[in-house]
Amino acid sequence: MAWNYSEKTKQLFMDAVHGKPGTHMGEIADPDGLGDHGSIACGDALRFTFRVRRHPTDPTRDVITEARYLTFGCTSAIAASEALCTIIEEGRFTPIQALSVTNEDIVEFLEGLPDQKIHCSVMGAEALQAAVFNWARKRGVDLTKLGIDIHQEEQEEGRVVCKCFNLTEPYIKRKIRELGLRTIPEITNAIKAGGACMLCHHAPGGLQDLLNEAWGAEAAGAAPAASAPAPLSPYQFGKKIEKTMEDYIRPMLQRDGGDINIVDIKDTVVYCRLGGACAQCAGSQRTLKNLVERTLKEQVDERVRVIEV
Ligand code: FES
Repeated sequence: MAWNYSEKTKQLFMDAVHGKPGTHMGEIADPDGLGDHGSIACGDALRFTFRVRRHPTDPTRDVITEARYLTFGCTSAIAASEALCTIIEEGRFTPIQALSVTNEDIVEFLEGLPDQKIHCSVMGAEALQAAVFNWARKRGVDLTKLGIDIHQEEQEEGRVVCKCFNLTEPYIKRKIRELGLRTIPEITNAIKAGGACMLCHHAPGGLQDLLNEAWGAEAAGAAPAASAPAPLSPYQFGKKIEKTMEDYIRPMLQRDGGDINIVDIKDTVVYCRLGGACAQCAGSQRTLKNLVERTLKEQVDERVRVIEV
């Protein structure tokens, strides 16, 4: 699918891939700060490195003079990394000041990002933070004494909530709070959790439970339980199928260039047509059963059957 990127995003991407002077793709040898975020196995990864001009006596007054990145990702991952490096270099920040740069600053620099690509800006902010923590360790700066939260609880092995993206409970909880995430699609857009098999959505201790814990069930926009006893009229049933398709299933498929449309609904049978990359995919039947049908069963009614037409 074609993403609606801003002109700025497209330009930064093109400049970076053509190695235009002034762009930042690469890695600083023997950097003063190095931070990684994401993983190639999960589809997105970013390494951010920076060099500082060292202050002779007070490392907290070091100033970042140069920033570089390596990323495995899409157009927006490259453009967001370019934006991050530019913001950092132009700001002439100390590493501690650089911690105030947020993913929203990156989105603003890019003049907007599609909702489904916000995670690229979050990845930049997280890699920057990791690089500053790395610099602090090397320079002997105790950030906690300066009142800076270094997410100690995330250093220890936390319970993995989203296995597809290897994201732990402490990390997801922090991002829910920091970014004010209220729904599962918002979590997926911001940090990718829940963006593949979806098993972590409503599993005990899964994403919906973490949202409920953070905001309370009502404020978090909790989805009704799949087995909610209230019987649905055929009209309500159809509307709920459509909504689940629009809110959960289509965005997932579109993320990988696929698509799906409902052709008809008879009783609890949903007739669908796959589109985009899914139409030619050898695994389309698996997608229908494992993703589409299972999600509709979870969200609407466990009697749902999905048939491709
Ligand atoms: S376990 Fe979270 S998307 Fe698969």
